[in-house]
Amino acid sequence: MRCIADTAPGPIVSPFPSNPPPVTLRGFRPSDVPFIASIVADALHERYDPSLYASLSAEWGDGFLVASDPHDVPIGFLLGVNQVEREARVLMFAVERTHRTQGVGTMLMNEFLVRCKARGFRRVTLEVRVSNATAIRFYTRYQYSVVDLLRSYYSDGENGYQMAVDLN
Ligand SMILES: CC(C)(COP(=O)(O)OP(=O)(O)OC[C@H]1O[C@@H](n2cnc3c(N)ncnc32)[C@H](O)[C@@H]1OP(=O)(O)O)[C@@H](O)C(=O)NCCC(=O)NCCS
Repeated sequence: MRCIADTAPGPIVSPFPSNPPPVTLRGFRPSDVPFIASIVADALHERYDPSLYASLSAEWGDGFLVASDPHDVPIGFLLGVNQVEREARVLMFAVERTHRTQGVGTMLMNEFLVRCKARGFRRVTLEVRVSNATAIRFYTRYQYSVVDLLRSYYSDGENGYQMAVDLN
């Protein structure tokens, strides 16, 4: 699916006071794929065909946010899709291990929700492993709540929760 120019209006600064180097949010670029694939392998334990990322970006470029370090190297990303009318789904969301708990995930989710609202979406959904307490706590802070139990949803047989938040 698509080519990808930067879509963020400008640098978006972390809401947390930070000693870590500044992080910038921008749109996905094809050259990001190796970095994103590495984050996905480590954080989500998945390996996808590299063409998947460009393909999904072509469908909704603004839904694919990349957080990059001062060298423009991706350190986290949020890939959202729009499969249901006026609804977004967070398909993948991860921050590179050494950059967690520094506000990068918050930057990504904040900007994603702003874009969803600007697009007139009514709801955002996602799936998460029932054992992923860190992510569930993170989502709960954004008022996502569990709407369904997805039995054996993951390839290793683990159950998932579908979570959702209504956008006002
Ligand atoms: C879930 C995930 C994306 C969050 O990314 P992150 O960059 O660590 O997120 P943040 O740093 O913005 O927030 C994490 C926590 O640190 C806190 N925090 C962030 N920066 C902080 C700072 N400077 N000082 C103190 N606390 C801070 C946040 O308040 C937040 O707390 P909470 O989760 O209890 O609400 C990350 O943990 C991850 O990649 N996990 C592995 C992949 C995964 O599980 N993805 C979701 C699959 S559904």
